[in-house]
Amino acid sequence: MTKGRSSRRGAALTMALATVVLATASGCARKADEVSAAQDGGVVHVACGATEEWCAATTKQFSKTTGVKADYVRLSSGEALARIQAGKDNTEFDVWYGGPADGYAAAGDAGLLTPYVSPNASAIPAKYKDASGMWTGVYIGVLGFCSNTKLLAEKGLPTPHSWADLLNPKLKKDIGIAHPSTSGTAYTALWTQVQLAGGNEDKALAYMRKLHPNVLQYTQSGSAPAQMTARGEVAVGVIFSHDCLATKEAGFPDLQVTFPSEGTGYETGGVAIIKGAKDPKSAKKFVDWALTPEAQEIGPSVKAYQVPTNPNAKVSDKVVNLHSVKLVDYDAAKAGAAKPALTKRFDEDVAQEPKS
Ligand code: G6P
Repeated sequence: MTKGRSSRRGAALTMALATVVLATASGCARKADEVSAAQDGGVVHVACGATEEWCAATTKQFSKTTGVKADYVRLSSGEALARIQAGKDNTEFDVWYGGPADGYAAAGDAGLLTPYVSPNASAIPAKYKDASGMWTGVYIGVLGFCSNTKLLAEKGLPTPHSWADLLNPKLKKDIGIAHPSTSGTAYTALWTQVQLAGGNEDKALAYMRKLHPNVLQYTQSGSAPAQMTARGEVAVGVIFSHDCLATKEAGFPDLQVTFPSEGTGYETGGVAIIKGAKDPKSAKKFVDWALTPEAQEIGPSVKAYQVPTNPNAKVSDKVVNLHSVKLVDYDAAKAGAAKPALTKRFDEDVAQEPKS
């Protein structure tokens, strides 16, 4: 599915990239952190939607702090939702952590979550949590464009600064974006179009159809286009801005983040308890802990530069200033309610969901 440009890049680049791939790729095997300090007797199985590195660091630190064992499976948003749905009569997970809240809202609507208002949720601003405790926000991420400036310069093309710029025919097959049925990142991009079109889903899908000739590949995981852009397979990735920054820091200085002038969407990364969790006591402990400054300050140590939702958490200076970007009004509950039908329309009208 690539255009062969990666062959022009050296082996060193590929090696460096492997680190990023490991850090972000969607995995299926459950990864346990056998922390010796874990003595509580409890165990929490986490469906984890953040980056692989953040999932690992978080479950490890949770066990160290609370004495509760923890393991995780890294899953993109749509994959997590499908897996939780498929296992609803004998759930394999106790909590879902990370990934945009609209997926959690959709799971709540489908009766797959148990509401829990953690005592620590009082610190989280109302716009970053569900009032009934269906989900609570742990981070905020802003959608942006991740450009390979070297490649764009070679092609004589400017860095895109608007959604309209992405429709430039000269960017044919030069854009990487995930598929909204599997990826919360891509669903954020789709719902952003709905908001920019004043709530008109037909117009949003019409934009995505116009974008389609410029899309080289719809990936399963939302952050995968960062690697495609770094490798020079595409010139621009539509991803969360912090995923671009993490890839740039992993050794790709030509990457540049820009935000669309019309306005962009954002995610509230959630945490929630799965209905039928085998260890609800430990699940509550996990949610309580995930809302603390201690938990929310882990991100930057593993190159995850989302904004913490807890105002008492320290904020890295690499984190985007939410007031410096034009954001659309993003209502996760509305986006979640629309998700099943809208992703189905995307499958039918724009492109089929990629299968692994
Ligand atoms: C990355 C980002 C997270 C985001 C997640 C969504 O891990 O760092 O901020 O929540 O992607 O993943 P998905 O694969 O569902 O788009």
